[in-house]
Amino acid sequence: MELASEHPELLAYPTGDLDLAFKRAKVLVDMGIEEVILIGGKTLGKVKVLGKGKSSIVVACKTKGKILAAKIRRMDSPRSSLKREAEALISVNEIGVGPRLLSYTDDVIIMDLIPGEPLRMFLAEASNAKPDRSLGPLLSAMIKARLLDRAGIDHGELHDPREHVVVICGSLAEIIDFGSSSTQRRPANVTKLIQALFIGGPYSKVLSREWKVDGRRLMEMLRIYKRRMDEESFGATLEVLEKNITSGKRGFEKGAVV
Ligand SMILES: Nc1ncnc2c1ncn2[C@@H]1O[C@H](COP(=O)(O)OP(=O)(O)O)[C@@H](O)[C@H]1O
Ligand SMILES: [Mg+2]
Repeated sequence: MELASEHPELLAYPTGDLDLAFKRAKVLVDMGIEEVILIGGKTLGKVKVLGKGKSSIVVACKTKGKILAAKIRRMDSPRSSLKREAEALISVNEIGVGPRLLSYTDDVIIMDLIPGEPLRMFLAEASNAKPDRSLGPLLSAMIKARLLDRAGIDHGELHDPREHVVVICGSLAEIIDFGSSSTQRRPANVTKLIQALFIGGPYSKVLSREWKVDGRRLMEMLRIYKRRMDEESFGATLEVLEKNITSGKRGFEKGAVV
């Protein structure tokens, strides 16, 4: 694979160690990757990639004509292997969450490419915070967080959803990066996500204003949810958020507090 000589830093970030880059290129070939495609919203040096995380570089790649995503472990990654993350991905895939895992080694995870933009970019556009635009993606993310809670899997980083929630076509969302997930901790996906969105996070001011959220009531519902962790208390929490929307978009257009 020419990539190893042309862009060794992608395969062996950050040093670009040539030996390692060639070894990893071989791993990609053995995994059935025919080509790495340098596209995406992030620029690394002179090339475009899908993303850069604390422990990996994520690039688009092609296998049997299909475009997928390859997560390549950074040399300075705090984790010595991606296997645990891949196993976590298998569990969350079973409940319909996360990008679908195709194959993995210690250093590479091949998964579906999530065609979307990080929540950070989606919400950078002020008008996207309005309920008629953000309801789809945020509800979708909250429901996925609920599925994780129900399955006893804690994502571990949903207190900061900026990069871990990806908005697809402005109407759905997917949760990514299960590198910090655990089945040992008590899951707190719904509470962490909703708090980050509407109570104490970087978007909470604008989102709670646009969604006309009663913050005190939301906190109260989240406290009950945290204790009970059942469908009923999840539904009651969503109701606090959804009341405005379910009572009709017209209310918003008139600027009325419903
Ligand atoms: N399956 C995917 N499809 C598209 N982009 C992805 C995918 N997985 C990760 N990314 C992008 O790469 C970035 C880093 O991935 P992430 O899994 O968070 O890595 P890390 O574990 O190193 O933090 C993400 O923020 C996202 O922008
Ligand atoms: Mg990450």
